[in-house]
Amino acid sequence: MKIVAPSLLSADFSCLDREMARVEEAGAKYLHLDVMDGHFVPNLTFGAPVIKCLRKHSKMFFDVHLMIENPEKYLEDFAKAGADLLNVHAETVKNLPAVVKTIHDLGCQAAVAIKPDTPLSAIESVLDQVDMVLVMTVYPGFSGQKLIPEALAKIPVLDRMRKEKGYSFTIQIDGGVGLGNLKEVMETGVDIVVAGSAVFGAADPAQATKDFLSVMEAYA
Ligand code: DX5
Ligand code: ZN
Repeated sequence: MKIVAPSLLSADFSCLDREMARVEEAGAKYLHLDVMDGHFVPNLTFGAPVIKCLRKHSKMFFDVHLMIENPEKYLEDFAKAGADLLNVHAETVKNLPAVVKTIHDLGCQAAVAIKPDTPLSAIESVLDQVDMVLVMTVYPGFSGQKLIPEALAKIPVLDRMRKEKGYSFTIQIDGGVGLGNLKEVMETGVDIVVAGSAVFGAADPAQATKDFLSVMEAYA
Protein backbone atom coordinates (compact mmCIF):
# COMPACT_ATOMS: atom_id res chain seq x y z
CA MET A 1 0.00 0.00 0.00
CA LYS A 2 1.23 3.51 -0.82
CA ILE A 3 0.85 6.10 1.91
CA VAL A 4 1.01 9.89 2.04
CA ALA A 5 2.32 11.31 5.30
CA PRO A 6 1.59 15.03 5.58
CA SER A 7 4.27 16.78 7.63
CA LEU A 8 2.93 19.07 10.31
CA LEU A 9 6.03 21.25 10.00
CA SER A 10 4.31 23.32 7.32
CA ALA A 11 0.99 23.58 9.20
CA ASP A 12 -0.39 26.54 11.13
CA PHE A 13 1.02 25.92 14.64
CA SER A 14 -1.73 28.00 16.25
CA CYS A 15 -4.40 25.40 15.40
CA LEU A 16 -2.74 22.02 14.98
CA ASP A 17 -5.87 20.04 15.88
CA ARG A 18 -7.79 21.61 13.00
CA GLU A 19 -4.84 21.21 10.66
CA MET A 20 -4.61 17.48 11.48
CA ALA A 21 -8.35 17.00 10.98
CA ARG A 22 -8.19 18.47 7.47
CA VAL A 23 -5.75 15.85 6.21
CA GLU A 24 -7.20 12.99 8.24
CA GLU A 25 -10.68 13.57 6.78
CA ALA A 26 -9.13 13.71 3.31
CA GLY A 27 -7.72 10.19 3.74
CA ALA A 28 -4.21 10.57 5.18
CA LYS A 29 -3.34 7.51 7.27
CA TYR A 30 0.03 8.78 8.54
CA LEU A 31 0.99 12.06 10.15
CA HIS A 32 4.69 12.94 9.96
CA LEU A 33 5.94 14.77 13.05
CA ASP A 34 9.30 16.52 12.74
CA VAL A 35 11.12 16.84 16.05
CA MET A 36 14.15 19.17 15.84
CA ASP A 37 16.61 20.13 18.55
CA GLY A 38 18.60 23.05 17.14
CA HIS A 39 21.79 20.91 17.34
CA PHE A 40 21.51 18.04 14.87
CA VAL A 41 19.61 20.44 12.61
CA PRO A 42 19.63 24.24 12.65
CA ASN A 43 15.98 24.57 13.66
CA LEU A 44 13.70 23.90 16.65
CA THR A 45 10.17 22.54 16.58
CA PHE A 46 8.36 20.59 19.31
CA GLY A 47 8.81 17.61 21.61
CA ALA A 48 6.88 14.87 23.38
CA PRO A 49 4.46 17.14 25.34
CA VAL A 50 3.05 18.57 22.11
CA ILE A 51 2.71 15.10 20.57
CA LYS A 52 0.89 13.91 23.70
CA CYS A 53 -1.70 16.69 23.24
CA LEU A 54 -2.08 16.02 19.52
CA ARG A 55 -2.61 12.30 20.20
CA LYS A 56 -6.01 13.03 21.76
CA HIS A 57 -7.24 14.66 18.56
CA SER A 58 -6.27 12.13 15.90
CA LYS A 59 -6.36 8.46 15.03
CA MET A 60 -3.69 8.80 12.34
CA PHE A 61 -0.50 6.75 12.62
CA PHE A 62 2.03 9.05 14.32
CA ASP A 63 5.31 8.81 12.42
CA VAL A 64 7.84 10.67 14.58
CA HIS A 65 10.99 11.83 12.78
CA LEU A 66 13.62 12.52 15.42
CA MET A 67 16.15 15.06 14.14
CA ILE A 68 17.87 15.26 17.51
CA GLU A 69 21.19 14.33 19.06
CA ASN A 70 21.18 11.51 21.63
CA PRO A 71 17.70 10.28 20.63
CA GLU A 72 18.12 7.34 23.08
CA LYS A 73 17.47 9.75 25.95
CA TYR A 74 13.98 10.64 24.75
CA LEU A 75 12.59 7.45 23.18
CA GLU A 76 10.50 6.52 26.20
CA ASP A 77 8.98 10.02 26.40
CA PHE A 78 7.90 9.85 22.77
CA ALA A 79 6.53 6.33 23.14
CA LYS A 80 4.50 7.40 26.17
CA ALA A 81 3.27 10.47 24.29
CA GLY A 82 1.62 8.17 21.76
CA ALA A 83 4.10 7.81 18.90
CA ASP A 84 3.39 4.78 16.70
CA LEU A 85 6.79 4.84 15.03
CA LEU A 86 10.09 6.29 16.21
CA ASN A 87 12.58 7.20 13.53
CA VAL A 88 16.19 7.91 14.51
CA HIS A 89 18.92 9.32 12.28
CA ALA A 90 21.82 6.93 11.62
CA GLU A 91 24.17 9.90 12.01
CA THR A 92 23.11 10.41 15.64
CA VAL A 93 23.41 6.87 16.97
CA LYS A 94 26.49 4.72 17.71
CA ASN A 95 24.80 1.40 18.30
CA LEU A 96 21.90 1.28 15.86
CA PRO A 97 20.78 -2.33 16.56
CA ALA A 98 20.53 -1.52 20.29
CA VAL A 99 18.40 1.56 19.65
CA VAL A 100 16.12 -0.35 17.28
CA LYS A 101 15.64 -2.99 19.98
CA THR A 102 14.84 -0.33 22.59
CA ILE A 103 12.19 1.17 20.30
CA HIS A 104 10.61 -2.23 19.74
CA ASP A 105 10.68 -2.96 23.46
CA LEU A 106 8.78 0.30 23.99
CA GLY A 107 6.04 -1.07 21.75
CA CYS A 108 6.67 1.20 18.76
CA GLN A 109 7.69 0.54 15.18
CA ALA A 110 11.35 1.39 14.57
CA ALA A 111 12.81 3.31 11.66
CA VAL A 112 16.17 4.66 10.64
CA ALA A 113 16.80 7.81 8.57
CA ILE A 114 19.75 8.90 6.46
CA LYS A 115 20.72 12.38 5.30
CA PRO A 116 21.36 12.97 1.57
CA ASP A 117 25.13 12.47 1.97
CA THR A 118 24.93 9.35 4.17
CA PRO A 119 25.41 6.10 2.22
CA LEU A 120 23.14 3.07 2.51
CA SER A 121 26.09 1.17 4.02
CA ALA A 122 25.55 3.19 7.24
CA ILE A 123 22.29 1.34 7.93
CA GLU A 124 23.15 -2.16 6.72
CA SER A 125 23.38 -3.47 10.29
CA VAL A 126 19.67 -2.89 10.92
CA LEU A 127 17.99 -3.54 7.58
CA ASP A 128 16.76 -6.92 8.79
CA GLN A 129 15.26 -5.35 11.94
CA VAL A 130 13.68 -2.01 11.05
CA ASP A 131 10.07 -1.46 10.04
CA MET A 132 10.90 1.52 7.84
CA VAL A 133 13.87 3.30 6.23
CA LEU A 134 13.67 7.03 5.56
CA VAL A 135 15.75 8.34 2.69
CA MET A 136 16.01 12.11 3.12
CA THR A 137 16.03 13.96 -0.17
CA VAL A 138 16.82 17.37 1.38
CA TYR A 139 19.17 18.28 4.22
CA PRO A 140 16.95 18.07 7.31
CA GLY A 141 15.88 21.21 9.09
CA PHE A 142 13.37 23.02 6.92
CA SER A 143 10.40 22.41 4.68
CA GLY A 144 10.08 23.91 1.22
CA GLN A 145 13.53 22.87 -0.09
CA LYS A 146 14.27 21.38 -3.51
CA LEU A 147 14.63 17.59 -3.87
CA ILE A 148 18.25 16.42 -4.34
CA PRO A 149 18.29 13.92 -7.28
CA GLU A 150 21.44 12.09 -6.04
CA ALA A 151 19.62 11.25 -2.80
CA LEU A 152 16.55 10.04 -4.70
CA ALA A 153 18.80 7.63 -6.62
CA LYS A 154 19.43 5.67 -3.39
CA ILE A 155 15.79 4.52 -3.26
CA PRO A 156 15.77 2.09 -6.22
CA VAL A 157 19.03 0.62 -4.89
CA LEU A 158 17.45 0.11 -1.47
CA ASP A 159 14.29 -1.32 -3.03
CA ARG A 160 16.37 -3.83 -5.01
CA MET A 161 18.33 -4.74 -1.87
CA ARG A 162 15.20 -5.50 0.15
CA LYS A 163 13.74 -7.64 -2.64
CA GLU A 164 16.97 -9.60 -3.05
CA LYS A 165 17.39 -10.21 0.68
CA GLY A 166 13.71 -10.56 1.55
CA TYR A 167 13.63 -7.65 4.01
CA SER A 168 10.22 -6.37 5.03
CA PHE A 169 10.84 -2.67 5.79
CA THR A 170 8.90 0.04 4.00
CA ILE A 171 10.73 2.90 2.29
CA GLN A 172 9.86 6.51 3.06
CA ILE A 173 10.97 9.65 1.24
CA ASP A 174 11.12 13.06 2.90
CA GLY A 175 11.99 16.36 1.32
CA GLY A 176 11.03 18.30 -1.76
CA VAL A 177 8.21 16.06 -2.98
CA GLY A 178 5.25 17.73 -4.68
CA LEU A 179 2.62 16.93 -7.27
CA GLY A 180 5.07 18.08 -9.96
CA ASN A 181 7.60 15.30 -9.25
CA LEU A 182 5.38 12.72 -7.53
CA LYS A 183 5.25 10.31 -10.47
CA GLU A 184 9.04 10.32 -10.81
CA VAL A 185 9.28 9.70 -7.05
CA MET A 186 6.80 6.80 -7.17
CA GLU A 187 8.80 5.11 -9.95
CA THR A 188 11.65 4.55 -7.46
CA GLY A 189 9.68 1.93 -5.49
CA VAL A 190 9.00 4.15 -2.47
CA ASP A 191 6.02 3.32 -0.19
CA ILE A 192 5.50 6.33 2.07
CA VAL A 193 5.73 9.89 0.81
CA VAL A 194 6.20 12.73 3.28
CA ALA A 195 4.82 16.04 2.07
CA GLY A 196 5.19 19.26 4.03
CA SER A 197 4.84 22.41 1.99
CA ALA A 198 3.03 20.56 -0.82
CA VAL A 199 0.17 19.71 1.57
CA PHE A 200 0.00 22.19 4.46
CA GLY A 201 1.49 24.96 2.34
CA ALA A 202 -1.23 24.46 -0.30
CA ALA A 203 -4.32 26.66 -0.38
CA ASP A 204 -6.43 23.59 0.40
CA PRO A 205 -4.51 20.89 2.34
CA ALA A 206 -7.43 18.44 2.13
CA GLN A 207 -7.55 18.72 -1.65
CA ALA A 208 -3.74 18.44 -1.84
CA THR A 209 -3.90 15.22 0.22
CA LYS A 210 -6.53 13.80 -2.14
CA ASP A 211 -4.46 14.82 -5.17
CA PHE A 212 -1.42 13.00 -3.76
CA LEU A 213 -3.47 9.88 -3.06
CA SER A 214 -5.02 9.80 -6.51
CA VAL A 215 -1.59 9.83 -8.17
CA MET A 216 -0.19 7.29 -5.70
CA GLU A 217 -2.98 4.74 -5.99
CA ALA A 218 -1.81 3.84 -9.51
CA TYR A 219 1.35 2.42 -7.91
CA ALA A 220 -0.31 0.43 -5.14
C1 DX5 B 1 12.66 18.52 6.85
C2 DX5 B 1 11.58 17.64 7.40
C3 DX5 B 1 10.48 17.38 6.47
C4 DX5 B 1 9.74 18.59 5.96
C5 DX5 B 1 9.51 18.31 4.52
O1 DX5 B 1 13.78 18.43 7.63
O2 DX5 B 1 12.11 16.40 7.80
O3 DX5 B 1 9.57 16.40 6.98
O4 DX5 B 1 8.53 18.84 6.59
O5 DX5 B 1 8.99 19.44 3.92
P1 DX5 B 1 8.81 19.50 2.33
O6 DX5 B 1 7.88 18.40 1.95
O7 DX5 B 1 8.23 20.87 2.13
O8 DX5 B 1 10.17 19.36 1.72
ZN1 ZN C 1 10.64 14.83 8.32
